[in-house]
Amino acid sequence: MLKLKSVNLKKDKVGILVIPVCEDKDIHDNQTVSSLAKKAQKIKGFKGEKDDELTFYDPDQVNAEIVTFLGLGKQGKLDTEALRALAGKTVKKCIQKEFSDILIAVPSEKKTKLKTADILEVMLEGACLGNHLFDKYKKEKKLKLLKQINFLVTAETAKKFSKLPSQVSAICEGTKLAREWVSMPSNDKPPAQLAKIIAERAGKESLKVTVLDDKEIRKNKFGAMLAVAAGSQNRPRMVILEYRPKGAKKTVALVGKGITFDSGGLNLKPGGSMAEMKMDMAGGAAVAGTLISVAKLKPKMNIIGVIPLVENMPSGSATRPGDIIKTYEGKTVEIGNTDAEGRLILADAMAYAVKKYKPDTMIDLATLTGACIVALGEKIAGVFSSSDKLANAIISSGKKTYERCWHLPMPEDYKESLKSEFADTNNISKEGGGGSITAAIFLSEFVGKTRWAHIDIAGPAYVRKDEAYCGAGGTGFGVRLLCDLMGKL
Ligand code: BES
Ligand code: ZN
Ligand code: ZN
Repeated sequence: MLKLKSVNLKKDKVGILVIPVCEDKDIHDNQTVSSLAKKAQKIKGFKGEKDDELTFYDPDQVNAEIVTFLGLGKQGKLDTEALRALAGKTVKKCIQKEFSDILIAVPSEKKTKLKTADILEVMLEGACLGNHLFDKYKKEKKLKLLKQINFLVTAETAKKFSKLPSQVSAICEGTKLAREWVSMPSNDKPPAQLAKIIAERAGKESLKVTVLDDKEIRKNKFGAMLAVAAGSQNRPRMVILEYRPKGAKKTVALVGKGITFDSGGLNLKPGGSMAEMKMDMAGGAAVAGTLISVAKLKPKMNIIGVIPLVENMPSGSATRPGDIIKTYEGKTVEIGNTDAEGRLILADAMAYAVKKYKPDTMIDLATLTGACIVALGEKIAGVFSSSDKLANAIISSGKKTYERCWHLPMPEDYKESLKSEFADTNNISKEGGGGSITAAIFLSEFVGKTRWAHIDIAGPAYVRKDEAYCGAGGTGFGVRLLCDLMGKL
């Protein structure tokens, strides 16, 4: 639980107080906090440089058992991400030390040149996201989450921002659910099972939940989904989550790639690159997480989440390279490579979303191409759009949430490379380079005239090692960005 709390440090009893410190400048308004920080910086070995740490036990001046100081580096370089990371690291450390209740001092607006609203939002967010463990698959659950995370502010600030803790918690809840679903192994999330897990969780919110089963997928002629599913014993599902508040005028469709495991199909992936392909449903997880969050945040617009869930496996019944399949939209596709399966299931899901829900805007999220990692590395997502305004809105939400995005082009003449001699299009490009671009261009064939953006999250959807406010595994990338964006479209 997050709480903004005004505490009299001299009188009120506190377990652990955490104080962020800059090396060159005092950043606190609370005089007791400032004077403690000053004292800490007189001690050899602690300057307040980034990641410096110092602990006082049974300190004087305050009625706390422990005061821990954490370095932030130079004040001039301080930004919101540094505060988000500090809050996340603080919580993780306190989990390790088996605390259950902590108090974090909040830097001041005047002394940092950051806005109070932003300081509070990112610190609450980092702390809440850091307060997460994925130990479902461990026999021994060694650690416990913090029960209460308090932020030291004035009574006035606590009142002014009284709604913030529940808003941040709502966004983090969707993010943490997405993380868990991505981290879960593929043997525990075949399409039917994952559909059930998502539907059950979404059913607890004010969302309309629909799951299309194998029979309905056939009846609707989702030919591209069925082609990808052909090699697997685990049958596909389509999950649809609808948030429709009263008085909403605009409709946004969010579509997420939900490949529960991507072996590559008959174009089998080599060993190393196959092992992490449980994360290939991260786009779908982010869409589901976002809908669960927006059901609590209640923006004034209709938001429809469409999540095709399919397992891509090789077998005697698998789709072959060279096969020609017919999509839901009607176009035929020659399968140049069975490992380019994400664009196929998205083609059906997006054409369906356009036809059925006629959205004003559609955004898809997908761990679509390894090429996007080559281009932008593992931390930045690629954004493609038919509208520069929409791309810019996504990039700006990405800056605010530190879910970073970069605008990539969809040049008209690259379409040529997807031509097939026998079908309406091929699912891979004849040319060597620009794999993320040609994948986006393929998708653009299935959105009609809808204002649309595609976010390739192949890089940032998953991390191998612990980070400041995220453990190893799924990152939930996209949930925070989309929650921010939904209020703005
Ligand atoms: N799921 C992969 C893309 C991916 C790679 C995601 C690495 C995350 C990390 C996708 O289905 C895929 O296999 N894409 C191929 C496309 C190629 C066959 C045109 C790729 O990127 O190699
Ligand atoms: Zn693939
Ligand atoms: Zn894939």
